[in-house]
Amino acid sequence: MAVTASARAAVKPAHLPSEDVIFGCSPAMQSIRQMVAKVLDTDLPVLIQGENGTGKGLLAQYLHAHSRFASGACIKVNCAAIPGPLLESELFGHEKGAFTDANSTQPGYVERAENGTLFLDEISELDLSLQAKTLQLLQDGTYNRIGDTQERRSNTRVICATNRNLTDEVAAGRFRQDLFYRINVVTLNLPPLRERREDVPLLANYFLTQLKVKYEREAPPFSEEMLQALTRQEWRGNVRELENLVARYAILGGLDPVATNRSCDWLVNGTWNRSSFTAFGEMTLHQEQVANRRAVVWRVVSVPVVSQ
Ligand SMILES: Nc1ncnc2c1ncn2[C@@H]1O[C@H](COP(=O)(O)OP(=O)(O)OP(=O)(O)O)[C@@H](O)[C@H]1O
Ligand SMILES: [Mg+2]
Repeated sequence: MAVTASARAAVKPAHLPSEDVIFGCSPAMQSIRQMVAKVLDTDLPVLIQGENGTGKGLLAQYLHAHSRFASGACIKVNCAAIPGPLLESELFGHEKGAFTDANSTQPGYVERAENGTLFLDEISELDLSLQAKTLQLLQDGTYNRIGDTQERRSNTRVICATNRNLTDEVAAGRFRQDLFYRINVVTLNLPPLRERREDVPLLANYFLTQLKVKYEREAPPFSEEMLQALTRQEWRGNVRELENLVARYAILGGLDPVATNRSCDWLVNGTWNRSSFTAFGEMTLHQEQVANRRAVVWRVVSVPVVSQ
């Protein structure tokens, strides 16, 4: 069943960035955009590969929101976070009495994703026994709840993501080749941010606008010089690292004019560390918590701070 553009727009979640922000202007992301446009209306499985923080989760949300499965739920399952036996029950559900703690019949994520999207994040972490059951789901759309002989049929779009090279995982015997072929129908390789540097200013400005609103701060806009400095960074943590850095700028850099000037020094000279921040004044507990949660930021700046 085809979904019209207006119907798709109606289900687009408000929290997703605009397409221009998601895909930027770099050639690498433009080719991703073209591939995405071609698969949006299909039910083909999509495999998203990329380093941590490149936007795999965001792209999965975008694919769901613009697909014909958008009226159903997008159920994200972090395969690395749930131990194997529990994951089988969480994914496929179980019948009452199927195992010791099964006090009631429970549907799994696959059922909750009916007519929607099942997003299997960190798919490389799926253990081998579950890979077989997942293969069956992808191959003929069927599965069984644990302890249930009734075969169920699923209508769900499967999106997988990984930061590992699945070909290597197959070669090492950790990932089933047949499952790899099943999920590898359409593969989107998200480039690291250092390979799409031309998108850094757009992303930085987008995050600043969002974060100023979120944290009710008055941080000044980035100057051209600051944006150039940001563009030169390595961004080993990719877009997440940039977002975290902008969060710090929005929250801390805009505290007062002195702070702002000093944070500009860092952005331009690449000379920022924690002590340069605390010189701006004590953090509130909330700011400390936010900064801790965003700890990846500290990795950017191991160079000594310039004395003032
Ligand atoms: N193109 C983009 N436009 C706007 N925000 C983005 C973009 N790409 C990533 N982000 C933001 O960067 C952060 C990291 O993105 P996301 O969680 O999707 O990355 P990931 O590849 O799934 O990371 P991980 O491998 O750690 O799970 C999120 O807050 C996301 O909203
Ligand atoms: Mg992710």
